[in-house]
Amino acid sequence: MLMENKNVFNWIEEKLSPDFCTSEEFIYNEMESQSDFGLPIIYQPFDYTKSLHWADRGNLFDYLYSTGGEGKKLLDFGPGDGWPSLIVAPYAKEVIGLDSSAKRIEVCTENAKRMGITNASFINYEVGTKLPFEDNTFDGVMAASSVEQTPNPKKTIEELYRVLKPGGRLRIYYEALNNYKGGQENDFWIAGLGSGLCKLILFDRNIDDEYVIQYGLTIEMSEEELSKKISLDGKDSFDNINISFLENIKSKIINVKACKTIHPSGKTYMSWLKDVGFKEILPSHSGRIAAYKLFQQFTDENIPKDLDSIDELIKKVVKVAIELKAPIDMDPMITAVK
Ligand SMILES: C[S@@+](CC[C@H](N)C(=O)[O-])C[C@H]1O[C@@H](n2cnc3c(N)ncnc32)[C@H](O)[C@@H]1O
Repeated sequence: MLMENKNVFNWIEEKLSPDFCTSEEFIYNEMESQSDFGLPIIYQPFDYTKSLHWADRGNLFDYLYSTGGEGKKLLDFGPGDGWPSLIVAPYAKEVIGLDSSAKRIEVCTENAKRMGITNASFINYEVGTKLPFEDNTFDGVMAASSVEQTPNPKKTIEELYRVLKPGGRLRIYYEALNNYKGGQENDFWIAGLGSGLCKLILFDRNIDDEYVIQYGLTIEMSEEELSKKISLDGKDSFDNINISFLENIKSKIINVKACKTIHPSGKTYMSWLKDVGFKEILPSHSGRIAAYKLFQQFTDENIPKDLDSIDELIKKVVKVAIELKAPIDMDPMITAVK
């Protein structure tokens, strides 16, 4: 089965000659919202009946406490839709979100304005250049699923170290490729681009070699139309995307890009953080899972309903979770202290 999938990738390279580009050119510059407008607080009111909304609050306090960010100056590296910057900002002195995608900065800035947040600002910079800050600028740095999206993740960590103050703390959430082992090495996703267009993204995850190649085919079809074509017997499966399927839709493919990113495992992250100079490095449990599990302790009858009471409970479990060492790649979050 894996062999057939490799043939699909070979076919795309041979027949469609994709342009290889950076991740922001590949996708982040195109998306109106990375979360499909689903983020609590940023796009939707908090809903106490939704476990994922509790998990999001857990995430907020995770980043806040792990970075020591209360009342401090924080950097959010690669903020996407303004996450976590916009939910952390009310508790920090100042948050700066830095992204190489101009589109993401536009979206983050609009979201901050709509939410009335005045202590978060967003800056665009050119990929591959030094981060536009002096040494020792920030008390804490948050990097959520962003370091492995940069062309040179180790260099990125060096830069994050440089801009942190001595004693400053970095909290990284990374995509642990190990969690895709056993069936999700090759996978796909369809992003709606509006105006009757969608993007079929095929993932070739080379887990042991710690890199991923994504192929992005922009197709003149709506997201729904393409999903319908791919799903057989109601089942969406990567196996349904074979060469004859691609031959069939070839005339509708109007753009083809590819992006190769280095995806360090937790072990590699740990060794790079150490090489770069961080003194204390802790792979820990996450506030996200702690808050999710807390939610599961309640029944419909006894669940707290107001955000303040919920936050008070979540803060307590998060403070414990983030200090607890976790098996590498499990949650997967790492705190590193300069
Ligand atoms: C997977 S998204 C994560 C967004 C957000 N932090 C979240 O968790 O929802 C990755 C983000 O990293 C940004 N990014 C990609 N390459 C970057 C680079 N070289 N420097 C800074 N940000 C980058 C993307 O534009 C995007 O906003």
